[in-house]
Amino acid sequence: MKYLFISIFLFSYLNGQEKTFTISFGSCQKHNKPESDQILEAITTENPNVFIWLGDVVYGKDGDADDLTAKYNQLKAKSSYQKLLQETKVLAIWDDHDYGINNGGSNYKNKTKSLIDFGAFANINNAEEVVGRGGAYQHYEFIQNDVKISITLLDNRFFRTPYLGEKIAGQISNTQGVLLGDQQWRWLENVLKNSTANIHIFGGGIQFLSNKHRFEKWANYPQERMRFLSLLKKYQIKTPIFLSGDRHHSELSILKEKDIVLADITSSGMTEAISWNSKEPNPYRIGEVVTQNSYASLTVDLNTLKSTVSFHDIRGEKITSKELELAMIGSD
Ligand SMILES: [Fe+2]
Repeated sequence: MKYLFISIFLFSYLNGQEKTFTISFGSCQKHNKPESDQILEAITTENPNVFIWLGDVVYGKDGDADDLTAKYNQLKAKSSYQKLLQETKVLAIWDDHDYGINNGGSNYKNKTKSLIDFGAFANINNAEEVVGRGGAYQHYEFIQNDVKISITLLDNRFFRTPYLGEKIAGQISNTQGVLLGDQQWRWLENVLKNSTANIHIFGGGIQFLSNKHRFEKWANYPQERMRFLSLLKKYQIKTPIFLSGDRHHSELSILKEKDIVLADITSSGMTEAISWNSKEPNPYRIGEVVTQNSYASLTVDLNTLKSTVSFHDIRGEKITSKELELAMIGSD
């Protein structure tokens, strides 16, 4: 409970009546490529209310703690990134490459050192407490025009138990495995139990819905996936939208069942997009797969709560967009 309290930061835009609230997000970038500067400048120009890093924001050399520290510092020092920080509230959660090791989990030996670096990079207010408790999970609330937007960032690295067959991560379901860990689950339940938000954004490195590919995903931990959906149903969480990265392409997935509707917007490949896995099956996919370097924006109309997801290239040009019917998402 203590950690729940200290991890909540409330941002209230009480002055001025904005018509929309925009959350931009992306993942998988190599900060020393020219495309990194271009896309960071495009996001700064779009000027969202919030930008969320969804992991793999730098690519540390596997297991090399000093290299990871240096790369976090290099990204933070870039003028294109400094400009984004000045213009926009920036939040972050990590995935494997900025955690420190490819497909990393709870047994990564440098994970506490990585958490110290991440806490500094992400400007987490209570970084010391976060390092002490373990895990990079965080919760924020934004209020604009009486609309409350909850943002919960989930750590799928620090507590994750090994895959069955570690070398083929993601191919074998581990029904006994741990993804979030007891401590993070208790924290998450407290966040949800007390939430009065109109829209609930969840951010995490790996995809929540897409379940047919051979890479890392929540579906490899079916009990954890079910537990998350059960919590959304138990507390009747309004308008849950998952944001994910990791995959080197971007896509929209939607789960529609009689008692829950959940969107999973994958925005992956700010500089590292690839196209060879774009034809993989995804029973939840709506629309096309974006296979070029991109970031995504979720724009909520604060009067109607109508919301649009759009994917943008490194110059900020819109590649594709889709209106989400948020009234349906999370309703009975
Ligand atoms: Fe990743």
